[in-house]
Amino acid sequence: MASFAPGSLGADAAAWKDQSLVGVQQLDEAGLNLVLTHAEKLRGQHRDVVLARQKGKILANVFYEPSTRTSCSFQAAMLRLGGSIFCVAEATSSAKKGETLEDTARSLACYADVLVLRHPTSGAAQRAAVASQKPTLNAGDGVGEHPSQALLDVYTLCRELCGGIPKGGVREALTGKTICLVGDLKHGRTVHSLAKLLASFDVALVYVAPKGLEMPSAVTAVVEAGTATQRSATSLASVIPACDALYVTRVQKERFDSVKLYEATKGSYVVDAALLKTAKPTCTVLHPLPRVDEIATDVDDLPNAAYFRQMEHGLYARMALLDLVLGAPASWTDGLRAWF
Ligand code: NCD
Repeated sequence: MASFAPGSLGADAAAWKDQSLVGVQQLDEAGLNLVLTHAEKLRGQHRDVVLARQKGKILANVFYEPSTRTSCSFQAAMLRLGGSIFCVAEATSSAKKGETLEDTARSLACYADVLVLRHPTSGAAQRAAVASQKPTLNAGDGVGEHPSQALLDVYTLCRELCGGIPKGGVREALTGKTICLVGDLKHGRTVHSLAKLLASFDVALVYVAPKGLEMPSAVTAVVEAGTATQRSATSLASVIPACDALYVTRVQKERFDSVKLYEATKGSYVVDAALLKTAKPTCTVLHPLPRVDEIATDVDDLPNAAYFRQMEHGLYARMALLDLVLGAPASWTDGLRAWF
């Protein structure tokens, strides 16, 4: 029976139905491999046709913070699965009249089959999942987590470093790799989710952050308990030659109490083509986007620049996630064609 309170997500696809995803620690290794393998299959299916896999289902896309990619890719993912969407923005919702998140989530659950929520407060998605009694996907909760981004980030790492999801899954693709997380590691929810998701793999994580913006201890404790190694460095140039992947993030202006502090830290680390000359030719560069100035535009045309491909991988990862929590049709051919 579905509990709607976020539970663990493993190898059994049927057990994903009606589940929420609020944090990456709900996923075990088999669950991660399941969703990424599902993304690979959907990638192969959807290009020329809109699928009918979730025809008749409705997604409520609720964004209380700005978004381009996450919001649009969830919408596109649902539409590509044959479902429908409606969007809720804080500015035009009853949140402005003082309605609680719980009441809003309960209301939207009357109209939709699945909720996607971005909210400025950590823990908001968990609260909405419990209140709505409908599968709820965390699209970023303040400085907390961004689990669907971490799924697409790991998917991108696998595709860039290994050409796809190999038989041995993420473990086979990433074992022995050195992955450097650069930028605002304190406020970056994408790096929080990514580091936690990689914690149980045999990877080396290197953190490069401006002073005061280091990875929080709540995240390093999870990595510490896993099999990944972690270390911090201050010189990006010194770690670049060893990296298989660079995950660059912006300094999150909106999370600072003082503009002065933001001004003092922004632009601390910039990845440009000259710096990448010292990297392995296969070193892949990811960024959740938006970028401000932390990746120079002279990187964009290098084969290493994976951040535009990463956006497309996000479509498939989110299609897979929606398809699983809404209950994937039993057979692939059931859900294949919408138009004929
Ligand atoms: C990120 C976010 O919102 O956390 N963007 C995204 O979802 N792709 C990163 C950011 O805003 O810097």
